Amino acid sequence: MQKRKMVYEGKAKRVYETDQDGIYIVSYKDDATAFNGQKRGSILGKGAINNQVTNHLMQLLEKEGIPTHFIEQLNDTETAVRRVRIIPLEVIVRSIAAGSLATRLGLEEGTVLKSTVLEFCFKRDDLGDPLVNSSHIRALGLATDEQLSFISSYALKINSILSAYLQEVGIALIDFKLEFGVTDSGQLVLADEISPDTCRFWDTKTGKKLDKDRFRRDLGDVEEAYQEVMHRLLGRA
Ligand code: TMP
Repeated sequence: MQKRKMVYEGKAKRVYETDQDGIYIVSYKDDATAFNGQKRGSILGKGAINNQVTNHLMQLLEKEGIPTHFIEQLNDTETAVRRVRIIPLEVIVRSIAAGSLATRLGLEEGTVLKSTVLEFCFKRDDLGDPLVNSSHIRALGLATDEQLSFISSYALKINSILSAYLQEVGIALIDFKLEFGVTDSGQLVLADEISPDTCRFWDTKTGKKLDKDRFRRDLGDVEEAYQEVMHRLLGRA
């Protein structure tokens, strides 16, 4: 498969057309940003880790019946995926209060939520990705009611699958962000990535943060935390 024109460049990934219709190549970068691009840096090895962690988890989810855009990993930092039109929503699932939820609702980080919280943010960097609800999504035509209903049930099922799986390797899944897309044939699939950039992972024994909060909050050991997640998920071979 050959890379052709770059069709998108985001903060952490580039996406290319290929010589095969309907197939894109995602290329992961080491670049890191936070606070809507105000903080910038680089995390050595992040691209390779996020690519491999994402693919590992996407394949696990596929086995459990969640449709995804994943086709095949091409090398350490690049993966072939199905071409989709991204639904402009960040779908956030939370089991434990942290980050913006803790701030917004005045909860101490680490507070166990009485039930799972599902949030949607409108993907608009220029507006700072504002929180929206289902009536906003309907009013703006961001997704159909049917798509939103599938997105919600997939998001909760993904939370159950990933929480149980990560628990086995000593990682508590605090919260995470998903993005969905629609293929050329109209199928709704999980897209984007599932990695320490897009999830909060806390060590179950020590509570140590093993995710991008180490970069956002200048906690140190950033590279080590990403490597630790990869080793726990993919082994140390
Ligand atoms: P938040 O607490 O900052 O709203 O983040 C919730 C989850 O979403 C957390 O796991 C990190 C992830 N996230 C992203 O993937 N991209 C983003 O731009 C932001 C702000 C959060």
